[in-house]
Amino acid sequence: MKKYFTTPIYYINDKPHIGHAYCTLATDTLARYWRKKLGEENVFFLTGTDENSQKTVDAARAMGKAIPEYLDEMAGVWRTTWEEIGIEFDDFVRTTEDRHIKKVHEIFQKVHDKGDIYKGKYIGLYCTGCEAFLKKSDLDKEGNCPHHKSPPKQIEEENYFFRLSNYQKPLLDLYEKNPNFLQPESRRNEIVSFIKSGLEDISVSRETSEFGISLPIDEKHKVYVWFDALINYISGLPEGEKNEFWPEAVHIIGKDITRFHCVIWPAMLLSAGIPLYKEVFAHGFFTIDGQKMSKSLGNVVSPLELAEKYGNDALRIGLLSSFEFGHDGDFSLENFENFYHAKLAGGVGNLFNRVITLTHKLFEGKKMLEKTGGFDTQIQTQRNNELIKTEIYSDEDITIDKFEMALKNNKIQKAVQILFAQVDKANHILSTHRPWELIKTDKVGTGGVMLELIRRLEIIADMAEVLLPETAPRMKKMLGDGQNIGQPEILFAQKK
Ligand code: ME8
Ligand code: MG
Repeated sequence: MKKYFTTPIYYINDKPHIGHAYCTLATDTLARYWRKKLGEENVFFLTGTDENSQKTVDAARAMGKAIPEYLDEMAGVWRTTWEEIGIEFDDFVRTTEDRHIKKVHEIFQKVHDKGDIYKGKYIGLYCTGCEAFLKKSDLDKEGNCPHHKSPPKQIEEENYFFRLSNYQKPLLDLYEKNPNFLQPESRRNEIVSFIKSGLEDISVSRETSEFGISLPIDEKHKVYVWFDALINYISGLPEGEKNEFWPEAVHIIGKDITRFHCVIWPAMLLSAGIPLYKEVFAHGFFTIDGQKMSKSLGNVVSPLELAEKYGNDALRIGLLSSFEFGHDGDFSLENFENFYHAKLAGGVGNLFNRVITLTHKLFEGKKMLEKTGGFDTQIQTQRNNELIKTEIYSDEDITIDKFEMALKNNKIQKAVQILFAQVDKANHILSTHRPWELIKTDKVGTGGVMLELIRRLEIIADMAEVLLPETAPRMKKMLGDGQNIGQPEILFAQKK
């Protein structure tokens, strides 16, 4: 079995903010889970940059830079940002690369040969922010683009059109047959009703673009940037024999770009005779303190700054835990700091430190604590004349099953919650049995408690390989080998 994960390829007219980081971290997290499950060689994770856009041309100009120089510089910024925050991508595709241009020509030609391209005239609206042809009905009450809150341009130019209208029926059939084709359900319903409302042919070239990929059938026109961009998911894969990853694609995207991915892209593939991707998951958007993140509001949060202060794993799990994957939610620095202190420094970090320290104190760091019997479904210890019981055990298999099930179904926040529930449970055992006191009256029972805690820490460390990948090896080191526990460490330091 192969799995192929992709992020959107981002526009590089600006630096990455935590909205982009959220999407990239979520995709990285899913890829890590599947690598662990299927083996490294069976998973491919692609990200990259969308460069043939008027926005980048404008940004280069505003900086007084030549376009190629600006593109190299900004693609570098995006790539190193992902590397610095611990994203493990297998390749990084740029739409100005030859391998990409070649694929765009190939696919455009196929669609043309199928009879799905014709020349016409486009008279209408265009939003450069979205790089999208808009209809009057797409605009808000003020007549602005709903995403960019600015009026679209009125354009009139010669375009080549793609017969999207031919694909209404095949697309509806696809949605009927494949429940995972677009998740979550709310997005799927939106798209299905959009398709049902009738599909019109769309422009797939621009006569007036300054920059971009020329059409293979007409040098004077440029390929419409979205038609070009979507093809990255194929052009970014290794060529030839080694390309066993198409069509195993799971595209992770934001909900703002579902029409492109879930209507136009599958229609392009059908037209070109290429097998269809497996899944799209469209996540939601977050606001910062209730407001849209934007430069003019000055509330853009840099992932690098957060990572520098709190660490990569805190950035990752902090963002992924903020709200349900697929929903919208709010992000605030205050909540993030509270989360860090409560769940990481005071939660999982403190738990590891206490348990490891106690094992040294009470049992000289030895895991000799042989099974003392009777601990399969409950722990039972004796303090003075009081019998203390906790029903807990053998739920660990269920926990792992639930964790895996969550990740298999792209329920990332759920997986995070399962990890923290496991931490809470271990803390509960610790505070119920109080091994530091118990040792005075029941050494065997104390050994059982500590053994159980260590087992639970091992489960947490396993989950951490997916959700806290930089911390996991440190946890494993603390847990030691079969015989001895390692030295206690501070996994997440308190911050001011
Ligand atoms: O659309 N919250 O690129 P883009 C959550 N180049 N996610 C956010 C976000 C926020 N506040 N802001 C942005 C493009 N995103 C095209 C894609 S793919 C063939 C071409 C994320 O730079 C979200 O995933 O505008 C969104 O879909 C993506 O950034 C858009 O990035
Ligand atoms: Mg955008």
